[in-house]
Amino acid sequence: MTILGPGDIVGLVNSTYAADLFVTVVAEFDIFTRLAQRDATTAQQLSELLEIDERAADVTLTYLAALGLLERLPDGAVRVTEPAEQYLRAGSSIDLRHYVRTVSTRQGCRQASQVLRTGQPASWEGDGGDWLDRMSENDFADSFSAAMNARGTYLGPALGEVLRDLGRSPAPEIQPTGDNRQAAPAEDPHTPVVHTPEVVHSAHDTTPVDHPPSVGWQAGSPPGVVGDGVTGEITGSVRKILDIGGSSGIYACSLVQALPGTSAAVLDLPSVVDFTRESIAARGLSDRVDVIAGDMFGDLPQGFDLHLYSNVWHDWDAQSIGKLAAASFAALPPGGVIVDHDMHLDDAKSGPLRQAEFSVRMMLMTVGKCYSTPELARILGPIGFEDIHLRPTTAGYSVVVARKPA
Ligand SMILES: C[S@@+](CC[C@H](N)C(=O)[O-])C[C@H]1O[C@@H](n2cnc3c(N)ncnc32)[C@H](O)[C@@H]1O
Repeated sequence: MTILGPGDIVGLVNSTYAADLFVTVVAEFDIFTRLAQRDATTAQQLSELLEIDERAADVTLTYLAALGLLERLPDGAVRVTEPAEQYLRAGSSIDLRHYVRTVSTRQGCRQASQVLRTGQPASWEGDGGDWLDRMSENDFADSFSAAMNARGTYLGPALGEVLRDLGRSPAPEIQPTGDNRQAAPAEDPHTPVVHTPEVVHSAHDTTPVDHPPSVGWQAGSPPGVVGDGVTGEITGSVRKILDIGGSSGIYACSLVQALPGTSAAVLDLPSVVDFTRESIAARGLSDRVDVIAGDMFGDLPQGFDLHLYSNVWHDWDAQSIGKLAAASFAALPPGGVIVDHDMHLDDAKSGPLRQAEFSVRMMLMTVGKCYSTPELARILGPIGFEDIHLRPTTAGYSVVVARKPA
């Protein structure tokens, strides 16, 4: 892989976890020999076959499909592809399982094995508790937040760009008043713009990255789960943004800069918010971006019309995401918008590779993983959100956007 931009460097770091998972499922679980004996296998069946956690099985199948070693079938099950048959199973004439085993006792592989078997996240770099336990330590919270901030400096501008239409005011009503009657402008600057989803590259990232094809997702959705207008057409007049689990506030700052007239607040843990305040001040935005120390699993503050979850949902299971989304639904006004900024899988969960690798990292380090748009729609739809759709941003990132009915 050639490094063309910051997303490639972040992707390379994430891929180390994925490589450890690959080595582990080949060397320790002999996954391709066992799958090759079956016509098709689902994540649940893999979990039973290998006696591993089902979330881990699901993420493993997506990653191996993204590598081209498994093929995803229309019903969501997988089967082994030709390269896996030829090189990675018992009886192969070129049996590379022997080569894979040469690196299988590395620390990362031992961690992967443990997470596969238990489903519990690994400790952070083998040191103390998992990342969430360690967030209560101020030093750890600072260095973790610095990492989030660094990534946000190239992702933030693209996020602002792709949500720009949400900040436009509806056309003001023009009151005819006698002789001062105003003519309608030839071209109304407030005409809602239909957003055409496209890949937005930050100035520093020219990396061509695959994106999930799910723009305006509708396929396979149960009736009522997504709204009619799943075309990326949510436009609006967002004024106050709540960046939930917002860390340094980099994305809140990017959004207020992209959406004139808006203000924001960043909600994060008490151990994080000193870093948040300093980062916002360093950007000169303390007058527009506030900070709230709190627990996002408690009641969410009222008075915000856009709730942003950036790189947050991948830390949690579907049930916890459901709780957060339901709390947002309760706190948002009618017409309010919820945004999930993350790496999203394609609808079939066959990749793309960079997103699948990131999902492996999240699976190993948290109780979460990366989600596809249909998976999120199955959470958001029953809560009442509509117009659920995906907009690509940059470097493999995208947003899933949805709206509380007006
Ligand atoms: C992976 S980081 C993402 C940070 C940032 N939004 C970004 O996109 O880089 C997850 C964030 O969620 C915060 N967090 C975790 N549990 C939380 C809770 N119960 N209440 C508030 N914030 C929480 C963490 O402190 C951390 O800043």
